Amino acid sequence: MSKIDEEQKKTPFLDALCDYVTSSPIPFDVPGHKLGSFVTDLSRKISPEILDYDANAPIGLDNLYHSKTVIKEAEQLAAKACQAEHCLFSVNGTTGGILTIFLSCLDNKDKIILPRNVHKSVINGLIISGAVPVFVSPQIDEQLGIANAVKTSDYIKAMDEHPEAKAVFVINPTYFGICADLKTITIEAHKRNMIVICDEAHGSNFYFSRKLPRSAMTAEADITAVSMHKGSGALTQASFILTKGSKINFYEVKRAFAMLSSTSPNPLLIASLDAARKEMVYRGKEALDNCLLLAEYARKILNTIPGIKVIGKEYKTEKSEGVYDIDLTKLIISVRGLGLYGYDVYKKIRAESNIQLELGEVYVVLALIGPGTTKEHIDALYVGLKKISDECYMIRRPKKSIKYHYSFSQSVVPPREGYDAPSKLVNLKESIGEISSETVMAYPPGIPLIIPGEIITSELIKTIEFYYREGGQVLKDSQQSKIKVIDKDKWYLTDDLIDSLKN
Ligand SMILES: Cc1ncc(COP(=O)(O)O)c(C=O)c1O
Repeated sequence: MSKIDEEQKKTPFLDALCDYVTSSPIPFDVPGHKLGSFVTDLSRKISPEILDYDANAPIGLDNLYHSKTVIKEAEQLAAKACQAEHCLFSVNGTTGGILTIFLSCLDNKDKIILPRNVHKSVINGLIISGAVPVFVSPQIDEQLGIANAVKTSDYIKAMDEHPEAKAVFVINPTYFGICADLKTITIEAHKRNMIVICDEAHGSNFYFSRKLPRSAMTAEADITAVSMHKGSGALTQASFILTKGSKINFYEVKRAFAMLSSTSPNPLLIASLDAARKEMVYRGKEALDNCLLLAEYARKILNTIPGIKVIGKEYKTEKSEGVYDIDLTKLIISVRGLGLYGYDVYKKIRAESNIQLELGEVYVVLALIGPGTTKEHIDALYVGLKKISDECYMIRRPKKSIKYHYSFSQSVVPPREGYDAPSKLVNLKESIGEISSETVMAYPPGIPLIIPGEIITSELIKTIEFYYREGGQVLKDSQQSKIKVIDKDKWYLTDDLIDSLKN
């Protein structure tokens, strides 16, 4: 075993936390439950030990924002494991990571080239940084009703048309596991002196298996946020922010990170990142090989169910324009043939077979295979879907195609201006032609249907109404029948805004 592998056996923060608790300190600091002595239903109903490790910031456990000892060492181990130069432990998920990246890497009015099918945290990153988006269109698969990656040629065209852009943003991979050609996009962006920012909320496993798509750090991207909690065994909410190369000012990243995060980071989240990194370094390859075998088995048996089609590796060649690579541990299951929407199947299989899928969309459901998945789980998924198929296949009529799904609106002012402008509430039905001042999204997947600064269209209203009707979860600031729009009577058009409207 090489030196770096030996080092990776260490879990400096986790060990320091355990040492602290076993030393049975007399706590006169926060939190007030005093290492679990004040018992609540959380301890009674879950486990008496649950609060023992919920310490705050005692001597010896370092400071997340000015790490010098055990957190610094744990972050350095994580950076090495992921072939990055620096790592920060985000206790506010990849959402916090993305906000940190936008605030630290982009200034007000900097342009960034990005797909429109980004997670809401990216739109919020645009709002808090003031950066101006140059949207590139993802390839849409109308049969599946999902947005895939952006073609490399479309990224390059946008870079050529906007040579002043400071950054290029790539989702690696999409929620459904679809990747763009990150390596080529990064080379092209670097040639033009642009930085490459990635969203790896769904890509943590790429760091621990060569059989999965390329990770941001191995593609030489500059900075990324990685949800270690989604795919690699950390506790929910725990992510890495990774950076590489001289284009990123790491101290600025740390500054923004400290500004946006709680001064009371939960030590269990930090410890879980330390432990997950170690486990994935040692057992990740084997665990992910097993995930891929289970995924292959799942495709084989699920594809025998009438009305069900699971996307496999052939999708990469069929849809090569928007599918450079694919993470096959994610099962994209088309349920169109059942005459049901994905939402229906998502709810039905939970109610009837106690199976919790990752999400239901219009035509697909998504099942994720992780290091904890077993063959029994896959067999249960087969039984659950077969039951629905027996009930519905050839009995229900196929669902009509929804043309307006994924038709994004035109952006007329940058998101920050759209968000900051004086606004008023109007009835959703009467809002066509108005400029939105809020973000509306279906969750999951959390991709905004409209963002501040975009024009409201009849297609958008139909889409929102469709989600309400079919029981999708719609998240918006205002109440269901209303939408917050720019109040044009009170809106003072600055020269900057007039310029941006012209562009
Ligand atoms: C594409 C994408 N990016 C970012 C995020 C945010 O990640 P987190 O939940 O770790 O904050 C999500 C969450 O689902 C996501 O789907």
